[in-house]
Amino acid sequence: MIAGNAESADLTQTRSVPVAEGRPPLRLGVLLSGRGSNFLAIAQSIRAGRLQGVQIAVVISNVAEAAGLQAARDLGLPTAVLVSKGRKRAEHDADVIACLRAHRVDLVCLAGYMRLLSPEFVAAFPNHILNIHPSLLPAFPGLEAQQQAFDYGVKVAGCTVHFVDEHLDNGVIVAQRAIPVLETDDAHSLAERILAEEHIAYSEAIARVAGAEYEIRGRRFVKRNPRDDPAPAAAV
Ligand code: GRF
Repeated sequence: MIAGNAESADLTQTRSVPVAEGRPPLRLGVLLSGRGSNFLAIAQSIRAGRLQGVQIAVVISNVAEAAGLQAARDLGLPTAVLVSKGRKRAEHDADVIACLRAHRVDLVCLAGYMRLLSPEFVAAFPNHILNIHPSLLPAFPGLEAQQQAFDYGVKVAGCTVHFVDEHLDNGVIVAQRAIPVLETDDAHSLAERILAEEHIAYSEAIARVAGAEYEIRGRRFVKRNPRDDPAPAAAV
């Protein structure tokens, strides 16, 4: 349950009970640029029944050759290619927003989408965009997070799923998973073990967002007090 001020008609539905309890499915729009292993993990969670009441409405890539895009086609999911190269960010994002709305997307999931979002994109889906980052934020934002963590010498590493706001890798944290850095690790093996945690964390985060138990309080995404009214008016 997310307290928010969604402006789009598609995003103002109140989800006061888990979607599995008779609500329309929560429709995901997945954005990716590359191999798409996080997307595939989400798709597998849905197919295995671990994300009830959630469906993938569309997979969008800004890179025509992205392996994740082909994987989505192979699964028979709706896909769209909106190439970003050479285009102004705001114009490209306007097309992506239109595509997401055309597919009646409730929740945008960035899954290796190698492109910063314009302020207009973030404002179009306030607290309705998730991203996954391969570090325990707020440590090591930006590119090559696993290498940054390894080089820094941390003893614990991990991944973060967070809502996207107008700042890089900054929004409210929805889920994190931590792993020890092993004496035998190098940056590559660490990244591989973090990736395995990412595949679990993203579905955990989506389940929290889709359900009725959590809400945003300040910077914190926390369990609602069960004694509170179950259905605040302006919530997902
Ligand atoms: C992941 O490490 C994710 O944390 C980062 O980009 C990578 C995408 O991997 N944002 P994949 O395309 O999901 O396999």
